[in-house]
Amino acid sequence: MRIVLGVTGGIAAYKAAHVLRGLRERGHAVRVVPTEAALRFVGAPTWEALSGEPVSTTVFEGVENVEHVRIGHEADLVVVAPATADLLARARAGMADDLLTATLLTATCPVVVAPAMHTEMWFNAATVDNVATLRARGWTVIEPASGRLTGADTGPGRLPEPDDIIQAALAATGRSAAPDSADASTVTPVAPADDSRTDESRADGALSGASVIVSAGGTREPLDPVRFLGNRSSGKQGAALAAAAATAGARVTLIAANVDSDVLASLPAGVDIEHVSTTAELEAACTAHASSADVIVMAAAVSDYRPAAAAQHKMKKTGDDLTIALVENPDILRGLVELRDAGRTRTGQLLVGFAAETGSHDTSAESLAQAKLLRKGCDLLVFNDVSGDRAFGHDDNAVVVYRAGADGAEEVARSEGSKAHVSNDVIAAVAAERSR
Ligand SMILES: Cc1cc2nc3c(=O)[nH]c(=O)nc-3n(C[C@H](O)[C@H](O)[C@H](O)COP(=O)(O)O)c2cc1C
Repeated sequence: MRIVLGVTGGIAAYKAAHVLRGLRERGHAVRVVPTEAALRFVGAPTWEALSGEPVSTTVFEGVENVEHVRIGHEADLVVVAPATADLLARARAGMADDLLTATLLTATCPVVVAPAMHTEMWFNAATVDNVATLRARGWTVIEPASGRLTGADTGPGRLPEPDDIIQAALAATGRSAAPDSADASTVTPVAPADDSRTDESRADGALSGASVIVSAGGTREPLDPVRFLGNRSSGKQGAALAAAAATAGARVTLIAANVDSDVLASLPAGVDIEHVSTTAELEAACTAHASSADVIVMAAAVSDYRPAAAAQHKMKKTGDDLTIALVENPDILRGLVELRDAGRTRTGQLLVGFAAETGSHDTSAESLAQAKLLRKGCDLLVFNDVSGDRAFGHDDNAVVVYRAGADGAEEVARSEGSKAHVSNDVIAAVAAERSR
């Protein structure tokens, strides 16, 4: 591939040399386009020696080749690492006041940027807005890492490791981070109908850099200090989805509602876990994450009702029948849809609901799920038929994934097998929906 590596004027500019080297080692031709400020941190000879190509910061050099248009036109991928707050602002505004921004304006290939800056700059409303706009235009903006910054301070804003940047960048073109030889395997973001490949390889890289929230398990509504209203969800499917999303390159938070520790022990390192118990706690956790999530997968089984009041002390037998008043719980998925539609969440956020239905004598479980998708207003709905003791607690599952199309619910995937296998297919459907 022909890759443009943009380097801007941040303290992490030296790390771009490792990104450059890693891309070259994988067989790619790399043209480095630094900004003037970047050259104050790392000089042109470093970029020229490591890339074997000339370096310029301005549109007024190499004019005979119309470089300010040609470089972008010929690129198969543009990576900017590190990307300053200033670069994000200039790119968002469509400026072309140096060779890098002109290249970004003329590139029609995937663009992947790795911002690095102080935490305050990263969380500044202008930067948040610029990032959201660039993402909405189709750019991949890799979330910065947390850690030591320029001075003694720490926090989100650090440039991710060069290998992670390379992986995310190549994934944006549908390639793995393997060498770019003729027989190097390419990774398709959407799961193909090829069962000879492993579950992991099918999902690998498809959600690189995305922030994914998965809820799992089942909520419990206290009746008294020892009893609760609950459901039979084990959390296995949600945990498998979190693992699949992490394998696909996402930063994953699992909001676990009463999930056994042995189920959580199967999660890959790096998946954050937040424990909740009641529907109100689950709602609060989901809402807290809503503003920064690219994808929210609501796999937890939520209690529709809760006791109007939980008894302070353990309830005793009275010899009479007992009637418990229930009040309706908030509709968490509907609430997330409303937040998103009000523009209070990340632009382009994808909401995935789950419907565990049994159907009835006159309505099929599938048609109930399709109706739920349209009623809730989410983007995708994963349906599983739970009649006859299926799904709950088992290691296998069978699902149908619907998307909300112009003419109603459209089937986009069908998957059956282990919960890990099903999860990879669901995550592939999520990645496909994100790139529509
Ligand atoms: C020591 C030093 C470190 C800097 N580090 C960063 C940084 O990490 N991120 C950032 O956005 N700006 C940083 N800046 C500010 C940028 O260099 C400045 O905004 C510059 O105009 C960016 O130009 P460019 O976007 O054209 O490269 C730093 C400045 C100095 C002096």
